[in-house]
Amino acid sequence: DDMSKLLNLDEIEAVATKKISKKAWSYYYSAGDDLVSKKLNNTVYRQILLRPRVFVDCTNCDTSTTLLGHKVGLPLYVSPAAMARLGHPAGEHGIAQGISSFGALQVISNNASMTPEQIVKDSAPGQIFGWQLYVQNDRLKTEKMVARINGMADKIKFICLTLDAPVPGKREDDERFSEAGADLPVPSATKNEQKAKKKAGPGGVGKQLFAGTAADLTWKATLPWLAKHTNMPIVLKGIQTHEDAYLAAQYAPQVKAIILSNHGGRALDTAPPAVHTLLEIRKYCPEVLSKIEVWVDGGIKRGTDVVKALCLGAKAVGVGRAALYGLGAGGPEGVERTFEILKAEIETCMRLLGVEKVSELGPKYINSRAVERD
Ligand code: FNR
Repeated sequence: DDMSKLLNLDEIEAVATKKISKKAWSYYYSAGDDLVSKKLNNTVYRQILLRPRVFVDCTNCDTSTTLLGHKVGLPLYVSPAAMARLGHPAGEHGIAQGISSFGALQVISNNASMTPEQIVKDSAPGQIFGWQLYVQNDRLKTEKMVARINGMADKIKFICLTLDAPVPGKREDDERFSEAGADLPVPSATKNEQKAKKKAGPGGVGKQLFAGTAADLTWKATLPWLAKHTNMPIVLKGIQTHEDAYLAAQYAPQVKAIILSNHGGRALDTAPPAVHTLLEIRKYCPEVLSKIEVWVDGGIKRGTDVVKALCLGAKAVGVGRAALYGLGAGGPEGVERTFEILKAEIETCMRLLGVEKVSELGPKYINSRAVERD
C-alpha cells in the first residue's frame, strides 16, 4: 500500500477500519455511552479560531520543544493505548519504530500487548518513552512492575499514573463485538492468566483489561506509596477540573506534569474535553501552568488542533486512536505517515500564523470565545 496517497487522519482511519478485525475496530473506536465526550473532544477545536499575523518572516519553522526537560522533535506524543497488536502484529514496537525519525515521545500502556523491553528495543538514540500505570489490587504486582520500569531509566523517563478510569466506561460497541475476532494478545502472561482472560468472555475488551485494576486510589495514600517505589517523575493523567489541576500542582516537584484528558471519551461520557479544563485552569489557577507541565489529549485530527492546544497553554498534545489507526492502516509506515501529516500540518499552521518557534505560541494567536463557558 502506498501510504503517501493518504492525505489526512480521517483517510487513514478509513483504511484502518477496513483492514483490522471488527473486534479491534470496536475496541479502538468505542467510547462511553453516546460518545458525546469523544465527539466534542474534536469539535471543540473547530470552534476555536486562529488569529494569523502577516508580514512576518516565516522562512524557518522549528517544531521542537522540551518535555520534562528532555528535548523532543515535536510537541506531539503517542498517548498510552492498550492492545496495539490487536490491530497489527507489529504492535506497540511498530508504533515506536514509526515515530522514531520524529524524535517524538511515546507513553507505553500498562495494558500494552508487548513487554516494555520489546517495545523500546531498537529505538533511535535519544528516543524516549514514558510508562503508564494502572495500580493493581495486587499492589505487590504493581511494585514489581514499577521496579522493572525503574531499571529501564535509559529509555523510560517517567511514570504516568492514569486516574480517570478506575472502572471502564460503558462502551457498547466494544461489548457488541468483543467476540468478533482473535483472542487478546497479552504479553508474557502465565498460562493461567491466559486461560482466565479467555474465560472472561463477553462484556468487551475494555472490561477484560480492567479486571484487577484498583478503584481505591486517593491523593493522600497513593502518591506517597508510589514515591516510595520510584524516583521517576510522575505524570498524572485524566485531570478534568481546575480543582484537581490545582491539587496536583501541590504535589510538585514529584508530580512534574498533568495530562488533561477524558480518556478519549472512553470513561465518563459528557466529561469535559481537555480544552474546557485548560480554559478553567487559565481562569481560576493559571499558576498551575508554570508550576507543572500541562499536557492534553483527545480528539486530535489536525495540526491546527495541536497548535490551538499549545496556544491555550498546553506543553504537549497526545494522540491515542490516531497512532492505532496509523498502525492498522499500514504498520510502522502507517504510523510514520500519520506523524508526517501532523508534523507538516503543524508547520503549515505555525508559518501561516507567523510563528517560528513553539515557545512563541500563546493566547494572542487564537480566539477561543466561542468555547468559553463561564
Ligand atoms: C486508550 N487510552 C488509554 N489510556 C491509558 O491511560 N491507558 C490505557 O491503557 C489506555 N488504553 C486505550 C486504548 C484505546 C484503544 C484508546 C483509544 C485509548 C486513552 C488514551 O491514552 C488517550 O487518553 C485517548 O486515546 C486520547 O483520545 P484520542 O486521541 O483517541 O481521541
